[in-house]
Amino acid sequence: MKPYVILNSAMTLDGKITTKTGNSEISGSEDLLRVHKLRKDSDSIMVGINTVIIDDPRLTVHKIPAEKSDNPLRIVIDSRARTPLNSRILNDEAPTLIVVTEKAPYENIQALKDKTANIDVIINGEDKVDLPLLMNELFQRGVRTLMLEGGSTLNYSMINEGLVDEVRVCIAPMIIGGVKAKTLVGGEGVNYMNEAFKLKLKKNYTLGKDLVLEYTVIK
Ligand SMILES: NC(=O)c1ccc[n+]([C@@H]2O[C@H](COP(=O)([O-])OP(=O)(O)OC[C@H]3O[C@@H](n4cnc5c(N)ncnc54)[C@H](OP(=O)(O)O)[C@@H]3O)[C@@H](O)[C@H]2O)c1
Repeated sequence: MKPYVILNSAMTLDGKITTKTGNSEISGSEDLLRVHKLRKDSDSIMVGINTVIIDDPRLTVHKIPAEKSDNPLRIVIDSRARTPLNSRILNDEAPTLIVVTEKAPYENIQALKDKTANIDVIINGEDKVDLPLLMNELFQRGVRTLMLEGGSTLNYSMINEGLVDEVRVCIAPMIIGGVKAKTLVGGEGVNYMNEAFKLKLKKNYTLGKDLVLEYTVIK
């Protein structure tokens, strides 16, 4: 059993979710409201450790009216417990679950656990986080919906493991280029088109200057 997973991201027309320097302010103000509504409707939000280090996101509902209790559980996929102790994701606005592996140094785990009672750290996997196992664990903990907010590497692992149910992208009318600028889905990638992860378009609409596409993943 696993939560229902929606991969949500903003990208440029050339599929980039960040510039080569790590700047990722892509969505227009109307789309940001959609993102925060989706956060409010989700039990949890999950990101990879690089996103935490580069963007330092809060991952709370703060662009629409909301109570503290509307904030979803924040989940960080962080094999080696590298989450900086001053990250905004560790603030007391919402509970945070840091998922590490057996490779994580004990001192790092302890420092995270000691920071506040809001932070929980679990060990899951040997080298990289075992995502199918984690989804099962989250379901056991009562998490029924999960919003996957990137980045590129974690998006690939989640899709590749067959764990994503929906993909929602906001396409901003911009092109930025750059081979080093991360795309919506990175990771190892497939070899041939017939190995592609297939999607079915469910909905499309504009929000300000942006185009939003919602797909279900065909399994
Ligand atoms: N435009 C948008 O909507 C948007 C949204 C989010 C992020 N971003 C951008 O995306 C960039 C970061 O993306 P990224 O691809 O570099 O990193 P990421 O996906 O945020 O984090 C990937 C890291 O997670 C850890 N990890 C542990 N277990 C894993 C597993 N099973 N599968 C995958 N990852 C696992 C690995 O590091 P360890 O082994 O060290 O743990 C891995 O390198 C940032 O620049 C950010 O601005 C943009």
